[in-house]
Amino acid sequence: MAALKEHTRLNITSDKISVPIYVGNDIFSEITSIISLKNYSKVGVLMDKNVAYHWGEAIHNVIGKNAVYITIPAGEDHKELSTVEKVLTSMLEHGFDRKSLLINFGGGMVCDIGGFAASTYMRGISFVNMPTTLLAQTDAAIGGKTGIDFGGFKNMVGSFAHPIAILCDTLLLSTLPEREFRSGFAEVIKHALVSDKRLFYTLAEEDFGAMDEDKLADILSHSCKIKCTVVSKDADEKGLRKILNFGHTIGHAIEMLSQDTNNPLLHGEAISIGMIAEAKLSLLSGLITKEDFERIENIMAKASLPSRINKSYKNKIYSKMLGDKKNEKRKIKWVLLKGIGKAVIDEEQPDKLITKAIEYILV
Ligand code: GLY
Repeated sequence: MAALKEHTRLNITSDKISVPIYVGNDIFSEITSIISLKNYSKVGVLMDKNVAYHWGEAIHNVIGKNAVYITIPAGEDHKELSTVEKVLTSMLEHGFDRKSLLINFGGGMVCDIGGFAASTYMRGISFVNMPTTLLAQTDAAIGGKTGIDFGGFKNMVGSFAHPIAILCDTLLLSTLPEREFRSGFAEVIKHALVSDKRLFYTLAEEDFGAMDEDKLADILSHSCKIKCTVVSKDADEKGLRKILNFGHTIGHAIEMLSQDTNNPLLHGEAISIGMIAEAKLSLLSGLITKEDFERIENIMAKASLPSRINKSYKNKIYSKMLGDKKNEKRKIKWVLLKGIGKAVIDEEQPDKLITKAIEYILV
C-alpha cells in the first residue's frame, strides 16, 4: 500500500507546532506507519467502553499486545476529574515515563480527557488523536483544547496541548449510532456558518441521511481545513478563534443542564439548539436577515438536528451562562452571525434580546 498522504497540517508558527492530519477511509491501521511506536518507552491506547466494544480487537491487532489498553466509561457525565485520575493512575502503574505515548482512540470526550491526562502527566507526554466520531473528527480532536467539565460547567478545567498527529478514519463512523452521527454535523454546519458561505450552500443541498463515503470524506476534509485555518491564526483564542464558539454560549448551558435530566443531550444537539438561539439573537440585533435565519433553521431541520428545548429550562439557562469561562467580568461576550459565512465576536447584548432569543427555543 502506498504511504498515507497528509490531508492537511495544523501549523502554529509562533509555537513551532505543526500537526499532520490524515483523513481517509479504512486508514486506522496506518497509525503504525505514521508514528514509529518503537521509539516510545510505552504506548497507551485510551478508549471508552463503546469504542472498545466495536474496535477494541481491531486496534489491538494493529498496536499489539505490548501496549497498555485503558478503558473508561462512555458519556459526557464521565468527563470529570475522577476519570482523568483513573487514566493517570493507570499510566503510573504501568510505568509510563516522559518518553511514553498515549493514543486517544475515541470521541470528543476521550480526546479531551486523554489530551488533558497526557499534557499533565510528568508535565506532559506525547499523544495522538484518533477520533472515532464525526464531531471529534471535524472539531474536538483538532486545535489543542483538552480538559474536563468541572463544578457544573463545561470544559472548565483544562489545557492547550496539541497531539503529534491526528488520524481521522471515516470507517470508524460506521458503528456510530445514527443519533451520534447526526450530532456531528452540528459542528460541520457551524464551521460553514462562521466562515464559509459556499460550504453552507453545499450542505444545504445535501441529503444528510444518505451521504456516500466520498461525499462525507470531502465535507469532513473541508471542515477540518476550516478549523485548521482559524486555529493557526489564533491558537490561544484571543480573537478570531472565538468565532468557533458560535452557538456554544447557550449550547453549553443547555448541554450541562441536560446532564441532570433523564434525557441528556449530545454535544452537537445542544450546539444545534444553541446556534438557533444565537442566530435568533443575531436577527433580533439586526445583524442577519429573516431569510438567512430561516435558512439556518432549515439546515438544522434537514440534518435532523434539534432546535427546541423544554420550557422547564427557561429560568436556568441564563444563570448557567453567567458562569461560562468565555465571559469577561461576568458579562456575556457573544459570537453572533453577520450573514451566512461571517461571524462577529465579543458582542454585548441587552437582557431583553437575550431573553427573547432564549424564549424562542423553548417549547
Ligand atoms: N471547539 C472550538 C474550538 O476548538 O475552538
